[in-house]
Amino acid sequence: MGRVFIDLGPRSYTIHIGQGILGSLGELAGQIFRSPRIMVVTNPTVNGLYGKAAARQLEKAGFEVLLAEIPDGEEYKSLASAEKLYDMAYSGELDRKTPVLALGGGVVGDLAGFVAATYLRGVPFIQVPTTLLAQVDSSVGGKVAVNHPRGKNIIGAFYQPSLVVADLSALGTLSEREIRAGMAEVIKYGVIEDEGFFQWLEDNMEKALKLDPEVLERIVTVSCRIKAAVVQEDETEQGRRAILNYGHTVGHAVEALTGYSLYRHGEAVAIGMAAAARMAEYSGLIGAPERKRIESLLLRAGLPVAVPPSLDRREMMASMKRDKKVVSSRLTFVLPEVIGRVRIVRDVGEDIINSGL
Ligand code: NAD
Ligand code: GLY
Repeated sequence: MGRVFIDLGPRSYTIHIGQGILGSLGELAGQIFRSPRIMVVTNPTVNGLYGKAAARQLEKAGFEVLLAEIPDGEEYKSLASAEKLYDMAYSGELDRKTPVLALGGGVVGDLAGFVAATYLRGVPFIQVPTTLLAQVDSSVGGKVAVNHPRGKNIIGAFYQPSLVVADLSALGTLSEREIRAGMAEVIKYGVIEDEGFFQWLEDNMEKALKLDPEVLERIVTVSCRIKAAVVQEDETEQGRRAILNYGHTVGHAVEALTGYSLYRHGEAVAIGMAAAARMAEYSGLIGAPERKRIESLLLRAGLPVAVPPSLDRREMMASMKRDKKVVSSRLTFVLPEVIGRVRIVRDVGEDIINSGL
């Protein structure tokens, strides 16, 4: 079993990682929380697979479980769903000490976290991520949000969980496509921070896609360690945390212009990472061999690397300028300098951007 500690002073917490660790959920929660109750937020898919096991463990540890289900899908990461959860919390007489526990992927985690951050001005929050993307990225670091009809993650907060429990065996029921999508964020960590990890992924990608237990444990542990180090340095993204957005500027535009339905988030990020690598090569930051290494690992993970030709490049540019991270219409990109190090480049010119699209 692996553990990663995120040191954020009074907001510090531990990420517990292991096969079958859901069996220790009650015990782990019981060590931190004294509340007699827990509100578990999930969706019907995840509830059907892991809801009973999670509830049994929590009840064994003495918690009364209040189960709150929202339908499955990105479109339910909304203020309307948050309102339903507030209603359930209010009817269930949740108090300030009652933790909200997110059992599911990034959609459930972001929504439940947003509710935990805002209900009664903040109640304790537990993440039990069940997708690869959620285990390596969204459950860690405290970004919580719901979507606005006109933009993704527009309404949100930084709100850290007090505990993260990542059961690697839960990944066994994910579709191959979801595993591949999560792998994009894993490859991202190699490019932005750790050449050794990138090389190890090159050597182990086939085993990873087959969910080899040891390989998975290393993937989730190293990814969380890298994310933890970045978040510790810059919790609220005043500077360095932006490196975690490598691939996301183009990725978000691809997602938005295809109606959030054609690509999984990780697939769009893979397209964005490859695009940023092409921009870096055009700008003379990296050479062709390194750019090709990034593209080829993404391809071996079964991920797309090309911006779909059907997307109008002017609309792409306009969409990127609407991104919530853009200040005064100036586009900032995270560009690789070598594998394992990136640079945040502000005010990137249109010729450079076009070279990536
Ligand atoms: P998701 O939550 O929609 O999950 C994908 C699908 O897998 C869903 O149908 C879900 O019900 C199902 N599922 C979940 N666990 C399963 C399991 N163990 N077995 C079988 N099916 C399972 O998608 P996601 O990729 O996990 O998360 C995407 C969301 O995360 C987006 O909303 C994105 O904005 C957000 N995100 C947030 C952050 C952050 O830092 N907060 C980072 C990256 C992404
Ligand atoms: N997923 C990007 C971040 O957490 O900052």
